[in-house]
Amino acid sequence: MRAVDVILKKRDGGLLGRDEIQFFVTGVTAGTWPDYQASALLMAILLRGMTIEETAWLTDAMVHSGGRVDLSDLPGLKVDKHSTGGVGDKTSLVLAPLAAACGVMIPMMSGRGLGHTGGTLDKLEAIPGFRVNLSLDEMKAALAHVGCVLIAQTRQVAPADKTLYALRDVTGTIESIPLITASIMSKKIAEGIDALVLDVKTGSGAFMKTETDSRRLAESLVSIGNASGVKTEAIMTRMDAPLGRAVGNALEVIECIEVLKGGGPPDVADLSVELAARMLVLGRVADDLTDGQTQIRDAIASGAGLDRFRRIIEQQGGDPRVVDDYSRFPAALQRHVLRAPRAGFLTRLDAELIGRASVGLGAGRDRVDDPIDPSVGIMMMAKPGDHLRAGDPVLDLRYRHRPRLETAMELATRAIVIGDQRPAAEPLIVGDVH
Ligand code: URA
Repeated sequence: MRAVDVILKKRDGGLLGRDEIQFFVTGVTAGTWPDYQASALLMAILLRGMTIEETAWLTDAMVHSGGRVDLSDLPGLKVDKHSTGGVGDKTSLVLAPLAAACGVMIPMMSGRGLGHTGGTLDKLEAIPGFRVNLSLDEMKAALAHVGCVLIAQTRQVAPADKTLYALRDVTGTIESIPLITASIMSKKIAEGIDALVLDVKTGSGAFMKTETDSRRLAESLVSIGNASGVKTEAIMTRMDAPLGRAVGNALEVIECIEVLKGGGPPDVADLSVELAARMLVLGRVADDLTDGQTQIRDAIASGAGLDRFRRIIEQQGGDPRVVDDYSRFPAALQRHVLRAPRAGFLTRLDAELIGRASVGLGAGRDRVDDPIDPSVGIMMMAKPGDHLRAGDPVLDLRYRHRPRLETAMELATRAIVIGDQRPAAEPLIVGDVH
């Protein structure tokens, strides 16, 4: 078989066979498919698409590019949650301790920030000492002790995705439903879970900008998960404006702690409760969604979720005192406030631009190996729908280096749109897929 023939077939709209897809994934993993041919096939897939059968074969080949983690010696169902990526999207740090406190086993493997979107691992590393690179034995020990572990993918998990993702990132081939599906689901299937709740983002700050595309992505993810024996369901949520009020790693962890203490922004709290409740149902510790929501809200009210978060931090080498003393987080002491240029309603706070502004400050990466500054970020002093007077504060930029502030200010200023009409209130959750 020749790589060029596989590329030509997909370029001309043909259907790839299982053997051709396997040949591609094996070649990418072994380094025998050069980057230029792998990239050409990725572009052909982006332009021509894949059937659900081809997507299933691609996912399966990617799962088998490594090993599947075996967690069967630990009791109970293992449930994870995954988001397709957003700005200020920090729910994992809230729902994981809450669901664990209610009795579900949570082996959560997360990623780093991609493009303008934030990553759970970068947020966790804002906690002094917190280790995300645990060995398989350490992962199991953490699950046995605290019922939850928040880590990076171990090296055995879908290594083909690492190579393919790096190529997609620089060849304009991210926004493809079959490629996103195989990328996310190969990692989730390989991590050894029984069930998965997906948060598929839709809107300007998401990879899928329209509800139609987001629904198609959700359906693709759910069908591949269920066909592989991982009970999977998805909700679709709006990502036009950042979630919550904080964007930036330490700032977001503090916001999560506030939610676990019973406060914090209502959108973060409500979405975390919804996702966690679904995890309880899939983990068979709640009878239905209402029961799940009640259990999760009780775990917030009793402090059980907060206590579990302290234990998770301690188990993974972090300083649990951050929970009660935010001065232990790295903090950027220089601030620049962007104000409303005129009176009116805040009609838009563009998530993608805010995400890019926060990357500009140093909270994310322009290149894969760029260091992250955990202290910098943006606080939203106003949310879409708020009425503002001229000069009212809208965004509070926390920075360390003046040149970085200049870049961020240009993007953040464009993110703010003020109009005369109050924008219609849109529900955060726009649908679900089972
Ligand atoms: N997240 C992933 O892990 N893969 C994608 O392709 C997109 C988002």
